[in-house]
Amino acid sequence: MVFSLDRWVGKVAIVTGASSGIGASIAEELVERGLKVAAFARRKVLLEVLAKNLSGKKGQLFPVKVDLTKEEDILNGFKWVKETLGPVHILINNAGITGNTTISYGDSEIWKQIFQVNVIGLSIATREAVRDMRANNVDGHIIHINSILGHQVIYIPSLSVYPSSKYAVTALAETLRLELNSLKSKIKITSISPGLVKTEGLANEILQSEGFKQIIKEKKFSIRLMLQKLLFMFYPHLLMFR
Ligand SMILES: NC(=O)c1ccc[n+]([C@@H]2O[C@H](COP(=O)([O-])OP(=O)(O)OC[C@H]3O[C@@H](n4cnc5c(N)ncnc54)[C@H](OP(=O)(O)O)[C@@H]3O)[C@@H](O)[C@H]2O)c1
Repeated sequence: MVFSLDRWVGKVAIVTGASSGIGASIAEELVERGLKVAAFARRKVLLEVLAKNLSGKKGQLFPVKVDLTKEEDILNGFKWVKETLGPVHILINNAGITGNTTISYGDSEIWKQIFQVNVIGLSIATREAVRDMRANNVDGHIIHINSILGHQVIYIPSLSVYPSSKYAVTALAETLRLELNSLKSKIKITSISPGLVKTEGLANEILQSEGFKQIIKEKKFSIRLMLQKLLFMFYPHLLMFR
């Protein structure tokens, strides 16, 4: 099957968390393919730089300052898009934060922030996109940027709440699919679950965390142990490797 973005040329896509990392790359790609991209994030200055760098491309990027922890901001963002650019055809729910927190000693304010951005903000944006698409008879596409941690928990110290928010995204993608089905809507929902992607923000936070460094250290240690065991199988006299 050949996937083409041709049918979306000139149409409107909203990308949340477009000021850096994966979101900025997605926004860039969509602009290059000829879409009008409303780029949502708090750091508008970064969005403006991105818009400037993309001027002269087939499509165009429009910076919109939106804090996903504030419902009013999201509603105003959608209102601006509808009034200025037209009906929404694609929503990429990319914005996400990991929070540096544990269950045992964590700050509940950080837990709330994680859920506000990764789950509630995503749900509000999804609701607004579905309403707009249905009101305009648009068979659009909603894409959640999930995570492998939304399917399997891996112990990464200080990342004790983030996986639960991504499990919620997995469930929200499925419940939306069922809802759209029952509405006989042709709007598509896709959940994409990347592994570790080297981005400035989120991935750096993970890579720099003491917990992750510890995991890498332990992994190296276990690879060393495995090699030692293999060597011992073939050269049992080398007792020093045991
Ligand atoms: N990088 C990875 O290894 C990895 C792996 C699996 C899944 N993911 C997922 O991929 C997505 C993007 O991750 P990334 O690595 O590209 O992260 P990133 O570089 O840290 O970017 C996060 C984006 O989210 C935005 N954001 C954060 N809080 C926000 C808020 N309150 N309101 C509006 N926007 C907000 C940020 O913009 P502002 O700060 O300007 O608001 C930024 O544009 C996330 O959903 C993440 O869970 C990442």
